Amino acid sequence: MPNGTLAAYLDFAPREESFRDVALAGLTRHRKAIPCRFLYDAPGSALFERICELPEYYVTRAETALLAERAGEIAARIGPRARLIEFGSGASTKVRLLLEALDKPSSYVPIDISGGMLHPAASAIAADFPALEVIAVCADYMDPSRLPTLVAATRDRRVGFFPGSTIGNLTPDEAVRFLRGCRTLLGPGGAMIVGADLKKDPRALHAAYNDAAGVTAQFTLNLLARMNRELSADFNLKRFAHEAVYNEGAGRVEIYIRSLMDQLVTISGRRVAFVADERMHIEYSYKFTIDEFRRLAARAGFKPLDCWTDSEDRFSVHYLVA
Ligand code: AVJ
Repeated sequence: MPNGTLAAYLDFAPREESFRDVALAGLTRHRKAIPCRFLYDAPGSALFERICELPEYYVTRAETALLAERAGEIAARIGPRARLIEFGSGASTKVRLLLEALDKPSSYVPIDISGGMLHPAASAIAADFPALEVIAVCADYMDPSRLPTLVAATRDRRVGFFPGSTIGNLTPDEAVRFLRGCRTLLGPGGAMIVGADLKKDPRALHAAYNDAAGVTAQFTLNLLARMNRELSADFNLKRFAHEAVYNEGAGRVEIYIRSLMDQLVTISGRRVAFVADERMHIEYSYKFTIDEFRRLAARAGFKPLDCWTDSEDRFSVHYLVA
């Protein structure tokens, strides 16, 4: 029986992925690129928290307001005695809005790759919701078929939660593959709640990723600082610039680091050349119309049931049934 402490903590974290191998591979490609998951070391995570507070970055505020406003309706859709499974639970902040509104939720399964975040966050939820069984899973959730079987081992209705528009970091094909994996895990009768940022005035999107205080630039360039710290690299951060552009045709914000001059950098004993104006790709952040997102979900085998938006139509939360 749940008693205010964690029911289980499962450590399925993959063997530490080598930042060095991935960074060197990305820097020696014809088109340089480093995957955005490496933005979130401790300083990067702290910078992302600051981004969420910026006046221009509406994403987190809009989704939180929307969940607070619609929690009752979402909970009614879910029904009683559900198991809530969160993909990338981080500090488990937004999920509290759902847990407070739900009718006798039976269990909560936060999944996160960062055990340092997961353990305290899951313990706090267990303490604050003593009737809830909390099973914390430290794992890479991007391939749901490889999660421990305990995640899905319940007769209760399984409901996935994937907030934050993290799905926008994936290309549409990757997003469909991920959602298909979720559908299998959730099983027939299961459901999925996904936060997706909406297409809007390109000027608002530009401002959200090019804030006046320069915090987003610091967040992006922290990737170079991280290589300096961890891979004995010698990037001079003044010789590079953050660049975020909204690609209207592709419906995504594209984030790059631009070299401001011809230069040679050493990373882990290897020399890498940059030419002036060369761009290294860091992140995509896809934006969706409601219909585009519904079609994406349908490609993954989900039936889109509800869609809620915030009062200013900036952000959407979708309820999909497996
Ligand atoms: C955490 C992926 C939702 O795409 O808006 C914010 C990351 N990057 N500013 C986003 C991000 C630059 C963010 N997500």
